Amino acid sequence: MVYSRILGTGSYLPANVVTNAMLAERMDTSDEWIVSRTGIRARHLASEEEKTSDLACKAAVDALAAAGVDAQDIDLLIVATTTPDMVFPSTACLVQEKLGIHGCAAFDVQAVCAGFMYALVTANNYIRCGMAKKALIIGAETMSRLLDWNDRGTCVLFGDGAGAVVIGASEAPGIEHACLAADGRYSKILNTPGQIADGGIQGHPYLHMDGPAVFKFAVKALSEIAVTTLSEAGVSKDEVDWLVPHQANLRIIESTAKHLHLPMDRVVVTLPEHGNTSAASIPLALDVAVRDGRIQRGQRVLLEGIGGGFAWGAVLLTY
Ligand code: ACO
Repeated sequence: MVYSRILGTGSYLPANVVTNAMLAERMDTSDEWIVSRTGIRARHLASEEEKTSDLACKAAVDALAAAGVDAQDIDLLIVATTTPDMVFPSTACLVQEKLGIHGCAAFDVQAVCAGFMYALVTANNYIRCGMAKKALIIGAETMSRLLDWNDRGTCVLFGDGAGAVVIGASEAPGIEHACLAADGRYSKILNTPGQIADGGIQGHPYLHMDGPAVFKFAVKALSEIAVTTLSEAGVSKDEVDWLVPHQANLRIIESTAKHLHLPMDRVVVTLPEHGNTSAASIPLALDVAVRDGRIQRGQRVLLEGIGGGFAWGAVLLTY
């Protein structure tokens, strides 16, 4: 049986850090409101020159170095993003060009904050069926460009960044089990409905969110998919060493952890410093916990994400 396993992780955050206090200087909000409702204290924002592909490329270089893999050996490149540099070509093709590798399959996955889950599962299946041997999977976002900076209900929640993993074929798992789900009936509670047509932007070009509805749906869906993934894999809650959840809201993370009976010291939380970086949030958090030594080889890790669509998913793996 061929499995895939993570060979290395990487990440990149833009230099510009914007704290809650800095936001409170330009809009009617406060550090107290943002921290108590979300857990977020600061976020990194890309400079005008920095595009999603630039962030992605830096995280990719970091992950390739950690994996000890030459970029030329990558035979599959997937970028999960909601904020591509352009309508087309895909950000994956632009990253491929920036990395100086040519010819391998490269494409984007669009599942918003669940994008990295969808991309990782896709790459895992490429490897398991023999279509790829070494894959580079990146979650990269410049969410700041989708935000209405006059809408205090949404703009305080997000940040920019990128995370990446290199996975390779392995005789031992690796990725043990995964579940993906989507339900388009919930498309209206979180979306950016604008589109480019007839030479201009048609429709609302900013992120729109019904916060309480998203909160309710996310708590239920994440708890359920975590339990389903573990039960289908035949793994008990006690056998999970680390939960690496999508970083959207501390209260959502806490309630998922509670559902799994996992104490918060076994949950990786980067939200306070990063905000919600959408498809980048899970690989960013994974990389932080690998580099600071919390996540060790041989430990069991449950990743899970959810976002607009709605789309959500969970991946159980041995690191
Ligand atoms: N600062 C101060 N006050 C604010 C702010 C702000 N930044 N934003 C909203 N308010 C006000 C509202 O105007 C409202 O005031 P009012 O009562 O006078 O009308 C009040 O705070 C309460 O607003 P609610 O939206 O009801 O606040 P709630 O307690 O639901 O918290 C929040 C809002 C934090 C967005 C919450 O609903 C939430 O976290 N939802 C999940 C959203 C999420 O995680 N989205 C990420 C994208 S989806 C994903 O990644 C899964």
